[in-house]
Amino acid sequence: MEAKRKEPRKSLRIKVISMGNAEVGKSCIIKRYCEKRFVPKYLATIGIDYGVTKVQVRDREIKVNIFDMAGHPFFYEVRNEFYKDTQGVILVYDVGQKESFDALDSWLAEMKQELGSHGNMENIVFVVCANKIDSAKLRCVDESEGRLWAESRGFLYFETSAQTGEGINEMFQTFYSAIVDLCDNGGKRPMASVNVSFTKEQADTIRRIRSSKDSWDMLGVKPGATRDEVNKAYRKLAVLLHPDKCMAPGSEDAFKAVVNARTALLKNIK
Ligand code: GTP
Ligand code: MG
Repeated sequence: MEAKRKEPRKSLRIKVISMGNAEVGKSCIIKRYCEKRFVPKYLATIGIDYGVTKVQVRDREIKVNIFDMAGHPFFYEVRNEFYKDTQGVILVYDVGQKESFDALDSWLAEMKQELGSHGNMENIVFVVCANKIDSAKLRCVDESEGRLWAESRGFLYFETSAQTGEGINEMFQTFYSAIVDLCDNGGKRPMASVNVSFTKEQADTIRRIRSSKDSWDMLGVKPGATRDEVNKAYRKLAVLLHPDKCMAPGSEDAFKAVVNARTALLKNIK
């Protein structure tokens, strides 16, 4: 150990790209971090913007090549050749724009397709930025929904505002630090960062509860189900989602919704 430490560690070069729909704030997040400023006027990125910056992570100096991609579908042809050899992805959506959140899956799909069968999405650090949290009134994607999407894939999640700067430094520090860990681990994502503290069943159930149309649907029973059926369905969900046992983002709200749904249904069943 001691002998190793005397040698200066090799300086590290990494490649980072930004992804997400047009106008979600990708360029502004990068500008906020690199230039400490914010421009309210929208200047769409044309194809790709490229920049190099040096950052300090623990005792290391890291040279970061940032490729800031245009989100507009029109630029697909320009974007697609920049996906390869990437160690980190900043995946951005606007919390006031549901489509930009729903589009995250298609951004992953686009990247996966461009990397082809040799590419490996597992060994890339992804950070999801829920951006524009300064405009609270317009918010329509809440924290637990975004966090659940990110963390169930083993991605980092941060709430950010390029306008106020909230969350930006913390996000970049954690992101770069995770990339350095990945590089030190031979380019593989260290196990600790892949571990998810909740099951897929829990995540899927919370999502299902969020999008259920009524109390029957929420408990997963047919309209007109008996007390027994309602109670049985309730118990199963309660065990799965109880906040003491379930670490998934949004489990507390989902648990409460299930309790309320059961109460409402039992009131009307003789
Ligand atoms: P493309 O380059 O077209 O893909 O868009 P982009 O994702 O790079 O968006 P950009 O950073 O250019 O920002 C789009 C618009 O949103 C601009 O008008 C920004 O001023 C605004 N914006 C970006 N971040 C924030 C934020 O955190 N809060 C608010 N209120 N506005 C923001
Ligand atoms: Mg841009």
